[in-house]
Amino acid sequence: MRFAMALALLAPMLLAPGGAGTDLHQFWEGTCADCHGHAGPFARRFLTVEDGRLLGRHHRDDLAAFLANHHVPRDLVGPVHDMLLAQASTPPRFQERCGRCHESAAALARESLELRDGTLYARKSGQALAQFLPRHAKLRLTAEEIGFFTDLLARLEREVRQGG
Ligand code: HEC
Ligand code: HEC
Repeated sequence: MRFAMALALLAPMLLAPGGAGTDLHQFWEGTCADCHGHAGPFARRFLTVEDGRLLGRHHRDDLAAFLANHHVPRDLVGPVHDMLLAQASTPPRFQERCGRCHESAAALARESLELRDGTLYARKSGQALAQFLPRHAKLRLTAEEIGFFTDLLARLEREVRQGG
């Protein structure tokens, strides 16, 4: 009981930003994927979001505290929690629209994106992503899709480069 209360008090601190310089997707692949597979499908299948809060199937009110005792170093609890929250809230549209040519959004962000002065650029072409995507791969993306994929890749870029 006392232990549970201590954890509840700690939870807000556990959610503080941390893990600078850690590639969250590489961390997941190396530490969690053996048991859980890819993070996106895992989050969509097993976790739910209610009023902006991430809930597990068993750990509904104490997911962050659970993570801190479950393979996640303390400074990564906040970042991993936020990544799972974003994934559980995002439909698998990258897989559907980009997946036949790009293995994963994380790999694409790691290898091909660059943040300069707050704008995301496609590295090879040197174009801002918002200019690059409308003409890319004959996809004929709608304005809504361009917004969706630009936001998605901006998040992925942050997750693979966590402040690093
Ligand atoms: C050795 C296997 C193993 C590894 C490695 C592992 N997990 Fe788990 N994980 C489990 C099992 C088993 C459960 C189900 C336990 C439960 O729900 O109480 C679980 C449940 C979870 C849940 C859901 C809890 C709920 O209430 O539904 C999350 C989130 C989670 N793990 C995250 C992670 C993360 C993040 C990592 C890597 C840092 C990780 N796990 C590594 C075995 C593992
Ligand atoms: C039909 C195959 C195909 C599809 C579908 C596709 N791409 Fe690509 N994409 C490519 C190829 C091939 C390259 C590499 C081009 C090069 O290196 O010159 C690429 C490169 C990129 C780059 C890096 C460009 C640069 O200048 O570095 C980004 C960003 C990108 N794709 C985003 C996406 C997104 C987002 C989607 C889904 C909405 C998508 N792609 C769907 C084939 C595809």
